[in-house]
Amino acid sequence: MRLKHKVILVTGAGRGLGSGIALGLISEGSHVIILDINAEEMSQTTEEINRTGNEVMSIVADVSNYTSMTNAINQIRDKWNRLDAVICNAATMPLIPFKNTSPEIWGSILGTNLTGVYNTIKASWQLLKQNNGGHYISIASRASLLGFENEVAYCASKHGLEGLTKALAMEFEQYNIAINTMGPGKTIKPTSMTREQAKTIKESQKTKWINPVLLAPAFTWLLSQPPKNHTGLRFDAGPIVDTINKEGYDFVFTPEKTTLYTHDLINRIQQRHQWSIHRTNQQQITN
Ligand SMILES: NC(=O)c1ccc[n+]([C@@H]2O[C@H](COP(=O)([O-])OP(=O)(O)OC[C@H]3O[C@@H](n4cnc5c(N)ncnc54)[C@H](O)[C@@H]3O)[C@@H](O)[C@H]2O)c1
Repeated sequence: MRLKHKVILVTGAGRGLGSGIALGLISEGSHVIILDINAEEMSQTTEEINRTGNEVMSIVADVSNYTSMTNAINQIRDKWNRLDAVICNAATMPLIPFKNTSPEIWGSILGTNLTGVYNTIKASWQLLKQNNGGHYISIASRASLLGFENEVAYCASKHGLEGLTKALAMEFEQYNIAINTMGPGKTIKPTSMTREQAKTIKESQKTKWINPVLLAPAFTWLLSQPPKNHTGLRFDAGPIVDTINKEGYDFVFTPEKTTLYTHDLINRIQQRHQWSIHRTNQQQITN
């Protein structure tokens, strides 16, 4: 019960990683709100959660639409009047070569994966701030740092998410709000594959996918940290879960234990350190 009484929103929780994260965070005692554009998929997540003897608040909303997200956050404010963390998980990933990436397709992928995260944060950050801060975790990918064929818009959206995270971490530090990204770091069901489509995949293929609920402890670990400890960083759930299994939740932090991309993490920690020195110097000049 590491997250007892915490109120946590998980977007895109109708299936896949989001549903696994929601189940895992509920088992740690938090009040989870699941949000998805697809009511049918989300009703199945609700059933899975109810089968564990827990209740969940569900909201149908479109992260790519700012009004839809402000309405969703208003519902959370009315029910809980607080929000401790948001997992910005909703995304779409159609595999499309650049020659077929029309302006509409580009807009739709960026609108969900990048603007969707902006909308989610813009609509909710005051609710975190009023309660002494909290955490944002967006979902990273290998495509956050590397390029892949047929993923021009997806890669651009995930790279963009890292820029948003690095820059906003600096502005949010004063409110005790951490903002990080977390990649799965293990093989899970491909993004955009529905529950129905997944049923048609051969068992020999599906055995390569781990149950996303097994990655939830990595999110519990990060959400249990004081927000000042880690911000503006990119983690991977796989190595964190492996570390938790070996050393427990109170493991001594090193970059190698928490990401597949150690150099990126070290660079960002150094950047934050340099920025803190710069800010302290600026404050001394102002005073
Ligand atoms: N599956 C992978 O191998 C993998 C690898 C790296 C990163 N990721 C990331 O993990 C996250 C979850 O992906 P997944 O694989 O579980 O995908 P998924 O397609 O199974 O689930 C995504 C969910 O988001 C919802 N969604 C899509 N557009 C939405 C919108 N506009 N508003 C609200 N909800 C919306 C979908 O209905 C769906 O329920 C994504 O951010 C994805 O980029 C996945």
